[in-house]
Amino acid sequence: MEERAHSPVLLKETLQLLCLKDGGVYCDGTVGGGGHASAILRQSSPSGVLYGCDRDGDELKRSAEQMQESFKGRCHFQHGNYSQIETLFPGVLFDAVLLDLGCSSMQLDQSQRGFSFLADGPLDMRMDVSQPLKAEAIINDYSAEQLADIFYYHAGERQARRLARAIVEERTLRRFVSTRQLADFIEARMPRGRQKIHPATRVFQALRIETNQEFLHLQLALEKLIPLIKPGGRLAVITFHSGEDRIVKEFGKASTRDYIFEGTVDIPELRKQRPPLLKVITRRPVEAAEDEVKANPRARSARLRVYEKI
Ligand SMILES: C[S@@+](CC[C@H](N)C(=O)[O-])C[C@H]1O[C@@H](n2cnc3c(N)ncnc32)[C@H](O)[C@@H]1O
Repeated sequence: MEERAHSPVLLKETLQLLCLKDGGVYCDGTVGGGGHASAILRQSSPSGVLYGCDRDGDELKRSAEQMQESFKGRCHFQHGNYSQIETLFPGVLFDAVLLDLGCSSMQLDQSQRGFSFLADGPLDMRMDVSQPLKAEAIINDYSAEQLADIFYYHAGERQARRLARAIVEERTLRRFVSTRQLADFIEARMPRGRQKIHPATRVFQALRIETNQEFLHLQLALEKLIPLIKPGGRLAVITFHSGEDRIVKEFGKASTRDYIFEGTVDIPELRKQRPPLLKVITRRPVEAAEDEVKANPRARSARLRVYEKI
């Protein structure tokens, strides 16, 4: 199979923890460049089956064509959001499911997709180009409070309020339409100082998360996935952002308890007993070894958490 540009992170660790076997039924909810998906198919040869989806239709099409060629009859693909997995592959139960979150290097490298400010492009940032909401509408139409909240809560930007106010003021003169325009504006208001990262990095991350409603879809998907995994089957999630990792960790905590509680506060007298749904396989998240980080700097922030369905 022709190599695509995206190198799958934590590949060896993920394959091992998914406990792949010949004849298994697997799901990759984030096929992207197909690195993990094709490795899952190879390792579950000769008869393992993979169901894969991605909300980026073009990306999925390219990867699917290559895999259908190499693994005839063993893979099924659907364009769609992993938070609707039950409708994409109705009636299928999986031996293991993988979600490798965020966007792919191919998406980042295509300037016309607007994910990156390294090259100029439209403020788009949609993973699924059939969705109406673009980053441009968020940056130009959200109120200063809404912008400050997404900069702070999605990406931990400390200057969230100041930046949001400056953006809203600038908007009265001209709309923000391109990635470089926005990045240059932020850089001019917030000089780099001793920071290693570009001052616009967090704002771009926050805009991408908001455009694609990434936290919401992750939350929905985790809840839906448990009944779709066979007892003894595994769920592996690779995150690149502390906000995503927190969602996975909290979901893991709630699903491994032998009780539930209503609301946000756990009051022992109000607990309702029920058997735990999952068992933790990775007490601490698995991180990339030094040599992987050297070869692929994106792996630096990757965290892999794995659970087993009881
Ligand atoms: C990090 S890449 C996956 C790379 C892939 N594991 C590989 O080895 O090539 C993440 C992919 O997930 C997709 N994605 C992100 N959120 C999604 C969602 N809610 N539903 C489906 N796909 C999603 C993105 O479009 C992107 O292609």
